Amino acid sequence: MPRRPRVVSDVPALRRAVATLRRDGRIALVPTMGALHDGHISLVRLARRRAKRVVVSIFVNPTQFAPNEDFSSYPRNLSKDLARLAEAGVDLVWAPDVKVMYPDGFATRITPEGPAKVGLEDSFRPHFFGGVATVVAKLLTQCTPDVAVFGEKDYQQLKVIARLATDLDLPVKIVGAPIVREANGLAMSSRNAYLSEAQRGVAATLCRVLKDCAHRIANKAHVARVLDEGSAEIESVGFTLDYLEARHVDSLAKVETLKDGPIRLLVAGRLGTTRLIDNVAV
Ligand code: PAF
Repeated sequence: MPRRPRVVSDVPALRRAVATLRRDGRIALVPTMGALHDGHISLVRLARRRAKRVVVSIFVNPTQFAPNEDFSSYPRNLSKDLARLAEAGVDLVWAPDVKVMYPDGFATRITPEGPAKVGLEDSFRPHFFGGVATVVAKLLTQCTPDVAVFGEKDYQQLKVIARLATDLDLPVKIVGAPIVREANGLAMSSRNAYLSEAQRGVAATLCRVLKDCAHRIANKAHVARVLDEGSAEIESVGFTLDYLEARHVDSLAKVETLKDGPIRLLVAGRLGTTRLIDNVAV
């Protein structure tokens, strides 16, 4: 059985462990909230190609959840996660408690703008990117990686984090990793654990419709019409749709025609009580 990675849970121990790893070469960080699935493992694989040593953080970050969201029920399974990370060849796991990350008296919050204020996730989860930016800034300064890998499934999040690293002059390269999908196309997510078997089948509609819309737009169909028809199809299977949008891949500005691209299609909706997001390139 592969050796379990070392787990550290306070900042001085993390700093010592990172200093030791750095003697071997470049360090990559893969920030996660645990409940690891094949999508996370693909981030680790990419991290291993980009650096000599890989650190994974596991921290369910309370500041990115609104009071009515699923912070307390978010899936947690540290011992299963560690077994998966051992198999994936991870060197170090940073798993702080909430009190270590946000000690008494903690009073600083980053308020990202730009890609964090484009009317996608921010319209439906207004607290979200402030919490993500704050914790990611902390994770990057705590672990001081050369490279940090984030999944493209949270596409707007990836753009917010890239902007944050640039704006704060953090000496780290932010790398996006392609979405990993189930056999039926459903984008892998820790929140898929909330779905029943029947809902998993329905949830795959998101990906199917996105791919169909992308194909039609690439073939010069009218963007707004394609999105209207795609939205209707997603709602017809039982989703409450938050948005289905065509945006510029970098600025996330709205696009009306193929010429305004390159285009990324992004979708978010709720199936029962589970909120899912997905996106594809056109
Ligand atoms: O994408 C996630 O899992 C989280 O938002 C992140 C980046 C680890 C910050 O808590």
